Amino acid sequence: MTARIIDGKTIAAELRTRIATDVTQLKAAHGMTPGLAVVLVGANPASEVYVRNKSKAVTGAGMTPIDRHLPESVSEAELLALIASLNADPTVNGILVQLPLPPQIDGQKVIAAIDPAKDVDGFHPLNVGRLGSGLPALVPCTPLGCVILAKTVLPSLAGLEAVVIGRSNIVGKPVAQLLLAENATVTVAHSRTRDLAAVCRRADVLIAAIGKPEFVRADWIKPGATVIDVGINRVPGEAGKSKIVGDVAYAEASAVAGAITPVPGGVGPMTIACLILNTLRATCAQNGLPAPAI
Ligand code: GUN
Repeated sequence: MTARIIDGKTIAAELRTRIATDVTQLKAAHGMTPGLAVVLVGANPASEVYVRNKSKAVTGAGMTPIDRHLPESVSEAELLALIASLNADPTVNGILVQLPLPPQIDGQKVIAAIDPAKDVDGFHPLNVGRLGSGLPALVPCTPLGCVILAKTVLPSLAGLEAVVIGRSNIVGKPVAQLLLAENATVTVAHSRTRDLAAVCRRADVLIAAIGKPEFVRADWIKPGATVIDVGINRVPGEAGKSKIVGDVAYAEASAVAGAITPVPGGVGPMTIACLILNTLRATCAQNGLPAPAI
């Protein structure tokens, strides 16, 4: 079997086009332009790239990017003061604080300071609790992207065995909640799981979010399964250059899986598309408008 490739790049581009159309209508009908504030602390090169890409996507969707760059040495109090001002600013509909933060800042305290209605990362405890309770919530972007991609090949996940490898607050736990909300039977595996390969072989849907290059091998995959690879790992490539690989050994896994996301070009592009989707959803909810039908 050769797996169907789940083309995240194309699916994300289509989603972004639909969002841009909705934003145009929102402007025409209500004179509203969604604004997304992205806060970057320090000069982590990977974070700088992410933040630049986020701003580009925001502008491309017809939204307003509000970029706030603070020095590495900023105090927690200064960052909390910035968040308070963004919470109070009616032109700001979404707030994202790029993680990780420097050690003098308590990330949990910062996340909890964001107005839950503007929490487009879905990391605020109120949104985490709402997702877990099956209530409407802003949900984390990468997990949302994973489920959207899985549903392009499996329109219903009801009754399917889903295995998530990884239990982070950013991906593993929220993706498990989203899969549960889709009525899948969900197992969350992690570094202390016994016989991880056997657990993975049960999966009709396997989500790999471990952060270890090519960790998931072909013989861990049930023939015909849908494999969603969240990993972004930089490893040595040819001619002294580096390359990006996922958490799944893609070439061998493709011979067993029914469908698989490539890396790059799978989950990655969906994260930013879901961020602008969350910004649109937050804007509508804040203004008493119905949720966009996307
Ligand atoms: N750093 C890595 N992933 C993320 C994410 O999804 N959101 C934020 N805010 N920071 C991140």
